[in-house]
Amino acid sequence: MSKDCIPRKAHLEDVKAIHALLLQAAKKGLLLPRALIYLYGHIRNFHVVESPESEVVGCCALAPVWEDMGEICSLVVREDMRGQGLGRALVRACVSGCRELRLKKIFSLTYQESFFTRLGFNVVDKDVLPQKIWADCVNCAKYPDCDEIALFLDVSELPVRKLASKNCR
Ligand SMILES: CC(C)(COP(=O)(O)OP(=O)(O)OC[C@H]1O[C@@H](n2cnc3c(N)ncnc32)[C@H](O)[C@@H]1OP(=O)(O)O)[C@@H](O)C(=O)NCCC(=O)NCCS
Repeated sequence: MSKDCIPRKAHLEDVKAIHALLLQAAKKGLLLPRALIYLYGHIRNFHVVESPESEVVGCCALAPVWEDMGEICSLVVREDMRGQGLGRALVRACVSGCRELRLKKIFSLTYQESFFTRLGFNVVDKDVLPQKIWADCVNCAKYPDCDEIALFLDVSELPVRKLASKNCR
């Protein structure tokens, strides 16, 4: 694997680049935009990947939402850098983060069903995510008619090598 596509923990200096990446995808209705003040406050949740030119070209966050559950969110790879394994690498980095935090379950609310099922996630009814619904979704403009798909992964049952089997190309 090229060192350039290994995700690293985000720094405060990455916030403006993360903000721009999220805004671009949000304009297409693919995810929620995040305000700069939110990103500064939640930067510890983020991993980023850089291009060979050291530009931040992808990001992903793992947000704990309950004692054993976390959410994968704010996942985006710059359009010209897609299809090289960066999205997969970012999700893998978040899965590693789950183990450090002792999170057993992760989910994502997304339109990218196939991307996540390829990584071992399963489609579930949103009703299995009650804490998430009450803590966050009620404040979302899409509530209660959210058309995103809930994808779920039981990290405690995941073999360590499962997501590590395919590296960046
Ligand atoms: C979803 C996204 C992050 C994928 O990033 P990427 O770097 O292109 O993904 P990868 O190259 O790591 O792809 C991993 C695998 O998923 C597949 N894949 C990638 N994007 C896919 C998509 N949109 N739908 C279905 N499969 C997809 C790839 O073909 C690859 O398959 P393989 O295992 O057979 O090789 C990227 O398309 C993106 O930024 N989309 C816009 C933002 C968005 O929708 N984010 C999700 C919100 S939670």
